[in-house]
Amino acid sequence: MNDWEERYQQGDTGWDRGSSSPALYTWLDSGALKPCRILIPGCGLGHEVVTLARLGYDVTAVDIAPSATKHLQQKLADTGVTATVICDDLFNYQSATPFDAIYEQTCLCAIQPEQRSEYEACVRRWLKPGGELFALFMQTDSEGGPPFHCDLQQMRQLFNSDDWLWPNHEPIRVPRKSGRFEMGTILSRR
Ligand SMILES: C[S@@+](CC[C@H](N)C(=O)[O-])C[C@H]1O[C@@H](n2cnc3c(N)ncnc32)[C@H](O)[C@@H]1O
Repeated sequence: MNDWEERYQQGDTGWDRGSSSPALYTWLDSGALKPCRILIPGCGLGHEVVTLARLGYDVTAVDIAPSATKHLQQKLADTGVTATVICDDLFNYQSATPFDAIYEQTCLCAIQPEQRSEYEACVRRWLKPGGELFALFMQTDSEGGPPFHCDLQQMRQLFNSDDWLWPNHEPIRVPRKSGRFEMGTILSRR
C-alpha cells in the first residue's frame, strides 16, 4: 500500500475541500477554461472531475490511491456522468493523444521535489502545443512536505520560458482552510 492510499484509508485527507476549488469556478466563469479534453493528475476524491464532467468536458483523471479513484468512480456513477478514471502512478501514465488542457491542483506539491523535472516533462508530453496548464501551486513557506512548497520563482524555472508562456498578470490567490493558500495561473505550452 502506498502512503497516499494509507492516508485515504485513515481519513487523513486534510487537503480535501469537500467541493470544487473556487479557482475552478473563477476559470470557468471567466471563460478561460473552455469545453475541451482535459487531464487531472493527482485528482484525489475528484470534485473537479465531477464538476467538469457534468458540464460536458471530456475528463481523464489519474491518481495513485485506489480508495480515491474508487470513491470518484462511485460519485460519477451516482451523478450519472462519465469520465475516464485511472488508478496508477502518474509517472507511468501515457496518452496516445495529447490533451487540450491540464488541471494541476496540488499534485506537484505532493510529489518529491527531486521528481519535479520529471513531472514537468510528463505535463509537457501530455499537453498538445498551445495547450494550457491550469496550475495551482501550493504555498507553505516551510521546509519539508508533503505538501512541498512551490515557490513561484522555482516554478518559473521548472516551467521555463523556452517551453512555457507565462501570463503577464499576477497569479490568483486561492485560500485553503488550513490557512495556507495556492497561487493559480494559466501557462501555455509552446
Ligand atoms: C494533496 S492531494 C490533492 C488531491 C486533489 N487534487 C485535491 O486538491 O483535493 C495529492 C494527490 O496526488 C496523488 N498522488 C501523489 N503522488 C502521485 C503519483 N505519483 N501518481 C498519481 N497520483 C499521485 C495522491 O494520491 C493525492 O490524491
